[in-house]
Amino acid sequence: MSASNTQYHDVAGVDDIPPGSSKAFKVGERMVAVFNRDGKWFAIDDMCPHMGASLADGHLDGREVTCPWHAWSFDICDGSWCDNRALKIDTFPVRVVGDRIEVSAEPNPKAEGDLTH
Ligand code: FES
Repeated sequence: MSASNTQYHDVAGVDDIPPGSSKAFKVGERMVAVFNRDGKWFAIDDMCPHMGASLADGHLDGREVTCPWHAWSFDICDGSWCDNRALKIDTFPVRVVGDRIEVSAEPNPKAEGDLTH
Protein backbone atom coordinates (compact mmCIF):
# COMPACT_ATOMS: atom_id res chain seq x y z
CA MET A 1 0.00 0.00 0.00
CA SER A 2 1.48 3.36 -0.88
CA ALA A 3 1.55 6.27 1.54
CA SER A 4 -0.98 8.14 -0.57
CA ASN A 5 -3.77 5.66 0.11
CA THR A 6 -2.84 4.80 3.69
CA GLN A 7 -5.99 4.46 5.78
CA TYR A 8 -5.74 6.12 9.17
CA HIS A 9 -7.82 5.18 12.20
CA ASP A 10 -8.82 7.71 14.85
CA VAL A 11 -7.49 6.43 18.22
CA ALA A 12 -7.54 9.28 20.75
CA GLY A 13 -7.38 12.98 21.44
CA VAL A 14 -3.96 14.58 21.82
CA ASP A 15 -4.78 15.41 25.45
CA ASP A 16 -5.40 11.73 26.19
CA ILE A 17 -1.67 10.93 25.97
CA PRO A 18 0.40 13.55 27.82
CA PRO A 19 4.10 14.05 26.95
CA GLY A 20 6.23 11.13 28.15
CA SER A 21 3.33 8.70 28.22
CA SER A 22 1.76 6.08 25.99
CA LYS A 23 -1.39 4.08 25.43
CA ALA A 24 -2.33 0.97 23.46
CA PHE A 25 -5.13 0.89 20.91
CA LYS A 26 -6.62 -1.72 18.62
CA VAL A 27 -5.93 -0.56 15.09
CA GLY A 28 -7.32 -2.96 12.52
CA GLU A 29 -6.25 -6.42 13.71
CA ARG A 30 -3.24 -5.22 15.71
CA MET A 31 -2.62 -3.64 19.10
CA VAL A 32 -0.52 -0.53 18.59
CA ALA A 33 1.31 1.44 21.29
CA VAL A 34 1.15 5.19 20.70
CA PHE A 35 3.77 7.38 22.41
CA ASN A 36 3.96 11.11 23.01
CA ARG A 37 7.60 12.09 23.14
CA ASP A 38 7.71 15.82 23.83
CA GLY A 39 4.77 16.49 21.55
CA LYS A 40 5.95 14.18 18.76
CA TRP A 41 3.98 11.04 18.10
CA PHE A 42 5.23 7.52 17.50
CA ALA A 43 3.42 4.21 17.06
CA ILE A 44 4.92 0.72 17.40
CA ASP A 45 3.66 -2.84 17.76
CA ASP A 46 2.29 -3.04 21.30
CA MET A 47 3.12 -6.72 21.77
CA CYS A 48 6.64 -7.32 23.03
CA PRO A 49 8.22 -10.03 20.82
CA HIS A 50 9.72 -11.73 23.89
CA MET A 51 6.58 -12.90 25.72
CA GLY A 52 3.85 -10.52 24.66
CA ALA A 53 3.73 -7.80 27.30
CA SER A 54 2.17 -4.48 26.38
CA LEU A 55 4.96 -2.07 25.45
CA ALA A 56 2.57 0.82 26.07
CA ASP A 57 2.90 -0.12 29.77
CA GLY A 58 6.69 0.16 29.55
CA HIS A 59 8.94 2.93 30.81
CA LEU A 60 9.77 5.61 28.25
CA ASP A 61 13.20 7.23 28.48
CA GLY A 62 14.04 9.46 25.55
CA ARG A 63 13.33 7.45 22.43
CA GLU A 64 13.56 4.08 24.20
CA VAL A 65 10.75 2.15 25.83
CA THR A 66 11.59 -0.65 28.26
CA CYS A 67 9.23 -3.60 28.45
CA PRO A 68 7.54 -3.88 31.88
CA TRP A 69 8.08 -7.65 32.13
CA HIS A 70 11.75 -8.46 31.40
CA ALA A 71 13.21 -5.10 30.41
CA TRP A 72 13.84 -5.58 26.70
CA SER A 73 14.11 -2.09 25.20
CA PHE A 74 12.98 -0.78 21.84
CA ASP A 75 13.47 2.45 19.95
CA ILE A 76 10.05 4.01 19.43
CA CYS A 77 11.32 5.94 16.39
CA ASP A 78 12.36 3.00 14.21
CA GLY A 79 11.23 -0.09 16.17
CA SER A 80 14.76 -1.40 16.63
CA TRP A 81 15.61 -3.69 19.52
CA CYS A 82 18.21 -1.86 21.61
CA ASP A 83 20.25 -5.05 22.17
CA ASN A 84 20.58 -5.61 18.42
CA ARG A 85 19.63 -2.66 16.23
CA ALA A 86 19.41 -4.88 13.15
CA LEU A 87 16.25 -6.48 14.56
CA LYS A 88 13.07 -4.44 14.54
CA ILE A 89 9.43 -4.56 15.53
CA ASP A 90 6.78 -2.87 13.44
CA THR A 91 6.27 0.87 13.48
CA PHE A 92 3.13 2.50 12.15
CA PRO A 93 2.44 5.84 10.47
CA VAL A 94 0.85 8.23 12.97
CA ARG A 95 -0.46 11.75 12.42
CA VAL A 96 -2.43 14.44 14.22
CA VAL A 97 -5.50 15.90 12.55
CA GLY A 98 -6.88 18.82 14.53
CA ASP A 99 -6.73 17.54 18.10
CA ARG A 100 -7.09 13.86 17.16
CA ILE A 101 -4.39 11.22 16.83
CA GLU A 102 -4.70 8.89 13.86
CA VAL A 103 -2.73 5.70 13.24
CA SER A 104 -2.45 3.58 10.13
CA ALA A 105 -3.22 -0.13 10.42
CA GLU A 106 -0.56 -0.74 7.76
CA PRO A 107 2.94 -0.85 9.32
CA ASN A 108 5.82 1.07 7.82
CA PRO A 109 7.90 -1.03 5.42
CA LYS A 110 10.74 -2.95 7.09
CA ALA A 111 13.44 -4.37 4.88
CA GLU A 112 14.92 -7.03 7.18
CA GLY A 113 15.43 -8.14 10.75
CA ASP A 114 11.78 -8.65 11.57
CA LEU A 115 11.16 -9.29 15.29
CA THR A 116 7.37 -8.99 15.05
CA HIS A 117 5.34 -12.16 15.44
S1 FES B 1 7.75 -9.82 27.58
FE1 FES B 1 8.89 -8.04 27.05
S2 FES B 1 10.88 -8.46 27.74
FE2 FES B 1 9.75 -10.25 28.23
